[in-house]
Amino acid sequence: MCGIVGYIGSKNCIPVILEGLKRLEYRGYDSAGIGFIQNGSCNVIKNKGKVSLLEKKIYESSYSPTIGLGHTRWATHGEPNEINAHPHYNTDRSLVLIHNGIIENYQTLKISLQKQGYKFVSQTDTEVLAHLIDSFLKKGINLFKSVRLALAEVDGTYGLAILYDKEPEKLVVARKGSPLVIGIGEGENYVASDVSALIAHTSRVVYIEDGEVAEVYSDRFVAKTILDEDIVKEVHQVTMTLEEIDRGGYETFMLKEIMEQPESVLNSMRGRLIYEDGTAKLGGIDHLLDRISKTKRFIITACGTSWHAGLVGEYMFEQFLRIPTEVEYASEFRYRNPIIQPDDTILFISQSGETADSLAALREAKRKGALVLGICNVVGSSIARESEAGVYIHAGPEIGVASTKAFTSQLVVLALITLVLARKRDMSLVDGRSIVNEFLKIPEKIKRILELNRDIEKVAENFKDSKNFLYLGRGYNFPVALEGALKLKEISYIHAEGYPAAEMKHGPIALVDENMPVVFIAPKDSTYEKIISNVEEIKARKGKIIAIASEQDEHIGNLADYVIKIPDTIRMLMPILTVIPLQLLAYHIAMKKGLNVDQPRNLAKSVTVE
Ligand code: F6R
Repeated sequence: MCGIVGYIGSKNCIPVILEGLKRLEYRGYDSAGIGFIQNGSCNVIKNKGKVSLLEKKIYESSYSPTIGLGHTRWATHGEPNEINAHPHYNTDRSLVLIHNGIIENYQTLKISLQKQGYKFVSQTDTEVLAHLIDSFLKKGINLFKSVRLALAEVDGTYGLAILYDKEPEKLVVARKGSPLVIGIGEGENYVASDVSALIAHTSRVVYIEDGEVAEVYSDRFVAKTILDEDIVKEVHQVTMTLEEIDRGGYETFMLKEIMEQPESVLNSMRGRLIYEDGTAKLGGIDHLLDRISKTKRFIITACGTSWHAGLVGEYMFEQFLRIPTEVEYASEFRYRNPIIQPDDTILFISQSGETADSLAALREAKRKGALVLGICNVVGSSIARESEAGVYIHAGPEIGVASTKAFTSQLVVLALITLVLARKRDMSLVDGRSIVNEFLKIPEKIKRILELNRDIEKVAENFKDSKNFLYLGRGYNFPVALEGALKLKEISYIHAEGYPAAEMKHGPIALVDENMPVVFIAPKDSTYEKIISNVEEIKARKGKIIAIASEQDEHIGNLADYVIKIPDTIRMLMPILTVIPLQLLAYHIAMKKGLNVDQPRNLAKSVTVE
């Protein structure tokens, strides 16, 4: 949510910042802007819309500053127009500031600043920060201290980067609730909200933590807490490569990420399965296995697609571990004073590891004494760092706003956790080995499903003008129905609902007529006969049926208008396969509508505001 990038060194910072912003655009694309110091004064260039428009505007000018910062916005307060775009100035334009997050008490601060004579030009909460810091600078206090004093008055969340023309040799950054890293170069340094904006230049990064403020010079940085305590920061080496975050010849990141799934899923299992013992080894939680296997209850907490993965996890845990499992929306969990017992294990699933609600829920669970585990993709992310232990999904960077490969890798990790714990409890070696065998066949089966891409595209052609969709599944495939519907609505803007297939009779069936496409996820498993009855019910009402079915199913073709046949596996792993045709279906429908699937309207990757 909003991208931040900054540079200080000896080269022209504009290309560096623009390139960083393009890499961060998936975090928000309502507006973009850049601020810099040249010839002793601050300048801002910004516009509504994408970084490409900003680039055009900047290259019409002839600036070549060596210190600057840039922002790509996902609007919270104030409509996405040029005035509300970041950076924001203070009144005499000596300071420019960019912000990711929400200042919750901005109205109170604004009124107090207006009483002191400050005039506001935008509708944003961010502008308050520029004037508040200015009110300390005006007292002759230096920038670093002014920022700390100002932030002491602020409620809310922020990742901040600030320039001040009276102290042109530094950038000041601060963090509370919104990610921020410093990239360490040779005679130059970088700041960003996300490592992906930096890796073209450096692999050495310092993660700024909540409550920390740093001064970044070209050759060093100084970090303190808001309360002025000195802190020593560790420099981390990141392994992400540029190739991983490029489109690699695909038209879109989303298609690349869908197509990568044989590899990303393999990476999630790589080195973890142990056939001889019929189990897996998960280094991150190995030391806690005794405690986890004796847990009385699992609570899985997440948002969006990760929450859907959690629902599949519930089926896995309850089938194989016989341990009660609840799945919670992080946004609800954090505010409703959940009952948490000391022998509960709470899993937080998050691709980005930065989702504000999930992070806050994690902190709440920790406060209440539960064992807190993270399942994250982004290495070094806040949730990964703040969990007691965890398992990385190793799906590789996911740039497309709609989550695809992270979902299948989350399912792999949940299944691996299930296997490890089940083998520790009561699963036999033979059963464990046969599950390991099924895991090993998954990447090849995904490849076979991806070969259906053109067929699925043809199916999509028939539905690009549909206004509504229903997705129905049972058991393990009910969460897949939710995920299929979410994929379609977020990138094609077609209204879609996911339901347990049997629930349809309790209301949604009223929507069904000849204009209603209904996607059934109907592999040949123990729920097959039941779901076929549901298919009949839709057919009787003339709904258009698209079925995701098993390769050997000879019957469903008599009922469905379109059948996409996929390989089978055991029930627990089936969602990893059934979701892939749904990702492709949503993708092709959106592309046929001419939409930007990587940057769908109103959305942003990594929701770091609540
Ligand atoms: C949907 C999607 C979102 C995320 C949700 C949680 O395609 O991407 O629903 O799944 O915002 O994000 P993470 O997993 O980063 O916590």
